[in-house]
Amino acid sequence: MKKNITILPGDGIGKEVTASGKKVLEQVAECFGHEFIFDYALIGHEAIEATGNPLPDETLAKLKKSDAILFGAVGHPKYDNDPHAKVRPEQGLLKMRKELGLYANLRPIKLFDELLGASSIRPEILKGADILFFRELTGDVYFGERGRKENNNTAYDTMIYSRYEVERIAHKAFKAAQTRNKKLTSVDKANVLESSRLWREVVQDIAKQYPDVTVEHMFVDSAAMKLIQNPKSFDVVVTGNLFGDILTDEASQIAGSMGMLASASVGDKVGLYEPIHGSAHDITGKGVANPLASILSAALLLDISFGLKEEADAVIRAVEQSLKDGYRTRDIADATTPLEKILGTEVMGNIICNNIRMMAPAAAEKNT
Ligand code: IPM
Ligand code: MG
Repeated sequence: MKKNITILPGDGIGKEVTASGKKVLEQVAECFGHEFIFDYALIGHEAIEATGNPLPDETLAKLKKSDAILFGAVGHPKYDNDPHAKVRPEQGLLKMRKELGLYANLRPIKLFDELLGASSIRPEILKGADILFFRELTGDVYFGERGRKENNNTAYDTMIYSRYEVERIAHKAFKAAQTRNKKLTSVDKANVLESSRLWREVVQDIAKQYPDVTVEHMFVDSAAMKLIQNPKSFDVVVTGNLFGDILTDEASQIAGSMGMLASASVGDKVGLYEPIHGSAHDITGKGVANPLASILSAALLLDISFGLKEEADAVIRAVEQSLKDGYRTRDIADATTPLEKILGTEVMGNIICNNIRMMAPAAAEKNT
């Protein structure tokens, strides 16, 4: 299979982790007989520095032509405490999601058994948890009308959803539920918000087309509590942009660390794959960032954009094997991890590549 992949390293640890993600994709190409052609483009703070624009036209044009995108992170501390900044790295990411029609963000929360001890939640509560979030990504308060009034002393952001936006993400979530345990939790705040009442109404309507799926509606505050109290009670979750942003960071604790969570953003055409973690400037350049979220994002890319299930599975098993062998990055190590097993970004990535090589020979032979 011949495919064009654009790498968008972005800011902070984005560069370090996407380097590992790319290496893994190269390894897969070699072992399974594919040709992946890589290209790079600018986004975020880096793009602002180079062009003044967090999503330059050249980047967007490249992305529209690619078969899939592997993205790192955007953000820079310089903007975080400057509420007056007019141009911000995050605008690049948001514009990209909108321009590419990436309305569905899939965030699988799966705990590798070896990492039961890495979470701050008790192992008996976590064991067996496996949740698939569908976060709506191109609507809500992220894109509603906003502004300042009363001499700049009042500010507003509008939480807004239209029927078709809810319908299309709901369909995706119901379809996924059908392939899993046929249970869907829709999260909103319909006891207070009008946009949530529309959300609930639409999900109830769509549910009629999926009689085999049991739907439960939950308020976001209650969902936040239940995620920690009993994560196993969730299977597929569908929610809006803001609630999904918050709940998935919370849910990352179920997977042990933010450094483990991959995500896929899909919609009209090209798919984008990224860790859910951010640019983490506190550890940037130190070579200690966990590359597994980027590597698992590469697995999602192979599976969802290219339909390469066997290859995606090889990547996941390679990650599993490295954890079984006791290798950890700093964020997922605990008091019992021997020092020599605590690895930096690059070495961890190399170990995953080695594991893929060990697992793939049968497939490689088949393809030659
Ligand atoms: C995420 C991030 C982004 C978001 C930021 C960087 C704009 O937190 O992808 O979850 O809020 O969507
Ligand atoms: Mg977030």
